[in-house]
Amino acid sequence: MLILGLESSCDETGAALVQEDGVVLSDVVHSQVRLHAEYGGVVPELASRDHAKNVVPVVREALARAKVTLAQIDGVAVTHRPGLVGALLVGVQVAKGIAWAAGKPLVGVDHLMGHLLAIFLRRGDGVREAPSFPFVALLASGGHTALYRVDGPSADAVRELGATRDDAAGEAFDKVGKLLGLGYPGGPVIDRLATTGRAQAFELTAPMAHDGSLEMSFSGLKTQVAELVRLRGPLSVGDTADLCASFQRTVTGVLTKKLIAAAERENVEHVVIGGGVAANRELRERVIGEATKRGLRAHVPDLASCTDNAAMIAYAGAHRIAAGERDGWDLIATSQSVLNASTRKGRGKR
Ligand code: KG4
Ligand code: ZN
Repeated sequence: MLILGLESSCDETGAALVQEDGVVLSDVVHSQVRLHAEYGGVVPELASRDHAKNVVPVVREALARAKVTLAQIDGVAVTHRPGLVGALLVGVQVAKGIAWAAGKPLVGVDHLMGHLLAIFLRRGDGVREAPSFPFVALLASGGHTALYRVDGPSADAVRELGATRDDAAGEAFDKVGKLLGLGYPGGPVIDRLATTGRAQAFELTAPMAHDGSLEMSFSGLKTQVAELVRLRGPLSVGDTADLCASFQRTVTGVLTKKLIAAAERENVEHVVIGGGVAANRELRERVIGEATKRGLRAHVPDLASCTDNAAMIAYAGAHRIAAGERDGWDLIATSQSVLNASTRKGRGKR
């Protein structure tokens, strides 16, 4: 089975052709990062307009790179939740148009399901051992940070085990990047600068790191960095690198610790990471290191599978189509995930 996937939930316009077994024939991503850079974050109205401008060329490019025509695909999968509604609508309406014109089935995919299953994508010649179900996954991106137990490839087989009470981990990277004058998005820059800094130079503490729960909190960490910047004034290049290293050490420490604790609590052998923050070098190394020490098996996706892409959407959609599921022409875009039910964002005790 060959599926065309579309992704437009935030600031990446993506189209991809992926087989049911996870083999990626093409994966085209048009990033809007430069468009939003001067505002220090994603401007929803600009995002929608840019998706509308680029979505058809991106789909054409994905078909051309895979050397297939619409007649050869078996279905269209599109991110329809969660995300910026105006941005999602672009992908959803284009997917409906293509599915209708080509006479193919249409399925909506939850973006978080895409991230959770991205570990099964097979790119190039790389041989990657896939996890088996059940696994415990850390999903850490710009908009979401949570731990899940995943018993199968459908949303009803996913249970949230814990989540951030406030900022997402990627959001914390981006806010700290902004505080340090490193531009947007902060994650990749902090990752790079941290390699030259000394993590022990600054003492930062992550709230909830040692409370024995699977809940997390990152906004206080950002405040500590803001306070340091305020007290010290403009930082030297060396101090900036040190602060990046300290911040990254603290965040990756909490994420790794909670992921391992979740796997042990659930008595599950396989651990998986996903989402943009899973591209972070230190997080990848620490998760592999800690999991190995505890006799667990860590699965880390290719870098291209971590940040937003349409290949993961096509793959998650292939499972829905294979299960005989279909969506109608009344498929809507919505800001809420199907997985959100138990997340407590700023709402006190779980
Ligand atoms: O999954 P993603 O592309 O979009 C969302 O669904 O949010 O994640 C984007 C987030 C941004 O906050 C970005 O700063 C962060 O992932 N990110 C990283 C790295 N690469 C991207 N954070 C830390 N280290 C990285 N290497
Ligand atoms: Zn994402």
